[in-house]
Amino acid sequence: RMLLKEFRVILPLTVEEYQIAQLWSVAEASKNETGGGEGIQVLNNEPYTKKLDDGTMESGQYTNKEYHFASRVPGFIRLLAPRGSLSASERAWNAYPYCKTEFKNPDYMKDDFEIVIRSIHKDDLGDSENVHNLSAKELKEREVITIDIANDPVRPSDYQEEFDPSKFRSKKAERGPFGPNWIEKLRPGENIPRPAYMCAYKLVSVKFKWFGFQNRIEKFIQGQERRLFTNFHRQVVCWMDNYHGLTMVDIRRIEDEIKEELDRIRSQGSIRGTKVDDPS
Ligand SMILES: *[C@@H]1O[C@H](CO)[C@@H](O)[C@H](O)[C@H]1NC(C)=O
Ligand SMILES: *[C@@H]1O[C@H](CO)[C@@H](O)[C@H](O)[C@H]1NC(C)=O
Repeated sequence: RMLLKEFRVILPLTVEEYQIAQLWSVAEASKNETGGGEGIQVLNNEPYTKKLDDGTMESGQYTNKEYHFASRVPGFIRLLAPRGSLSASERAWNAYPYCKTEFKNPDYMKDDFEIVIRSIHKDDLGDSENVHNLSAKELKEREVITIDIANDPVRPSDYQEEFDPSKFRSKKAERGPFGPNWIEKLRPGENIPRPAYMCAYKLVSVKFKWFGFQNRIEKFIQGQERRLFTNFHRQVVCWMDNYHGLTMVDIRRIEDEIKEELDRIRSQGSIRGTKVDDPS
């Protein structure tokens, strides 16, 4: 039985804006995670078309990345796994507003490890009960976790004032700061014109079959997902003035530039970015 969690991240952006916001922020954040022989390598970033199970065609952008993150893996796994087996591959199919991302460890864990994230972006405040069309059985197993990027607790070691939505005001979009009741204040009917808001519904399933570690690791990974989604979206919002007004053409150009930069800096400097801790 897999753990199934549905994270609902409410954002002060439109669904249209978030497509740009997310891609810009992923590219920007990947620079800071790269260095010292670790980091992110972009192998593919190209349009795709595929036939779905129901026979319809889906098209979007396919990306394939390799994560080289030995220092990011919990210590006791590092002890058990062979050297060089700790990279993860991420494959993503972005048919916005629907996206699917898979993480695997093809060299070592193979089919025993998989994280799948299905995301749907919708212009509501996280009130849709079943955007992922889960079955009755899946609905029973699902846990819903709503993330309030401005008010949920953040670890002191993750906290950065420049990424605190409660202190941020966008000059270009004229939004923020996002205070204690910012979500309630967005409810339609109170403001005219309708304010910018949306929800990223992220359904995460984790499979990790290994000795007696399964439950512990699956819980641990889900906990890290919550932390990553919270921190990442705090940055997305506080970076609003950087991507506001950009187009998809701008984004593809920036992605190409950053891919080259990542290839250059990965081999240089010291290890950077978020460290995970050991599960207890
Ligand atoms: C990236 O690094 C720069 C310089 O070290 C820092 O100012 C910035 O806040 C970092 N960005 C993120 C997303 O952590
Ligand atoms: C869920 O079902 C509805 C109605 O059949 C459909 O429009 C929608 O695309 C489905 N969503 C997903 C994520 O499969």
